[in-house]
Amino acid sequence: MSTLSIATAAEVFELLREDLAAIEQEFSRQSASNVAVITDIAQYLIAGGGKRIRPLLLLLAAKALGSTGHSRIRLGAVVEMLHTATLVHDDIIDEADTRRGRPSSNTTWGNSKCVLAGDWLYMQAFSAALEERSFHVLDLLISLTQQMVEGELLQIEKLGHLINEEEYFDLIYRKTACLFKVSMQLGAAITPHDFGDAAIIESQLGEYGRNLGLAFQIVDDVLDLTAAEDVLGKPVASDLREGKATLAVIHALERGTGADREAIRTVLADRSFTSVSHPQILEILRRHGSLEYAMDTACAYAEAARQSIADLPPSDAKRALMWVPGFVTSRDR
Ligand code: IPE
Ligand code: IPE
Ligand code: MG
Ligand code: MG
Repeated sequence: MSTLSIATAAEVFELLREDLAAIEQEFSRQSASNVAVITDIAQYLIAGGGKRIRPLLLLLAAKALGSTGHSRIRLGAVVEMLHTATLVHDDIIDEADTRRGRPSSNTTWGNSKCVLAGDWLYMQAFSAALEERSFHVLDLLISLTQQMVEGELLQIEKLGHLINEEEYFDLIYRKTACLFKVSMQLGAAITPHDFGDAAIIESQLGEYGRNLGLAFQIVDDVLDLTAAEDVLGKPVASDLREGKATLAVIHALERGTGADREAIRTVLADRSFTSVSHPQILEILRRHGSLEYAMDTACAYAEAARQSIADLPPSDAKRALMWVPGFVTSRDR
């Protein structure tokens, strides 16, 4: 089978259907607390849906290496729980009122309860991961959590400032790509196999996750600029209103006329579209091909992800891993 063999969405879903259902159950089971409000918030978030892309990656990494055990279900739930905890905290930090097409948890329960529910979910994820009795698994998860928190903190410090591409890539690696990377590494770490040096295979799968995660966040940032809120299910044009310069905006800042740069600076500094409108910014981005530049960059990382797993032996899971990058770059939510 050639490395160009790519699964269809239906094949991927069929391959993972039972495992993904088991992960939903596991997440739900892990969310039961004696304190009702924690369970309520967790159940509300689970019911909101979501793409479940992180557990999907973990499952595919494990299956590509021949996984048979229960660990992939447990850790699939762990990465989705960690992701959910970061969303709860992120919506508080970003003052977002919508998530997954519904009121975000902070608007329903308030910031104080949601900070604590997020903390509880983090610790529940670690407690579930501890059942693996693996220092390597804990090591991956602890460094990941620190990277994500550092990413959100660095982002806050840079709000309203004109950052360069290097700073942008450092931020999106920490806040998003690192979890994609660790999801892939965990899939490998929990799967005994004899496809070669375990550390090398784990790092190749991790590299796939890193590249895919960078592509994913670049697309998220383009969608924030171009999508409709009812399709995206979360606020749009929010990055500029929060003072965040993302890849297309950084591109236009570097290439725009003096007036273009001034318009972008104004929105970032004001953190609002009162003096310069959202359509005006989009016109600047379109005139400089900045949205296209960001999408081309995302597609290059998506292709790099495919290249990272060239050495994996052929399997249905590998064909599915070849499908995911195209899904990430063509998604509309
Ligand atoms: C949202 O992640 C946070 C980002 C890293 C951009 P997803 O787009 O995976 O969110 P859900 O889980 O599908 O809602
Ligand atoms: C996502 O950043 C990073 C997280 C780790 C939650 P964003 O702020 O862009 O995510 P959305 O757009 O709110 O999902
Ligand atoms: Mg946000
Ligand atoms: Mg976003």
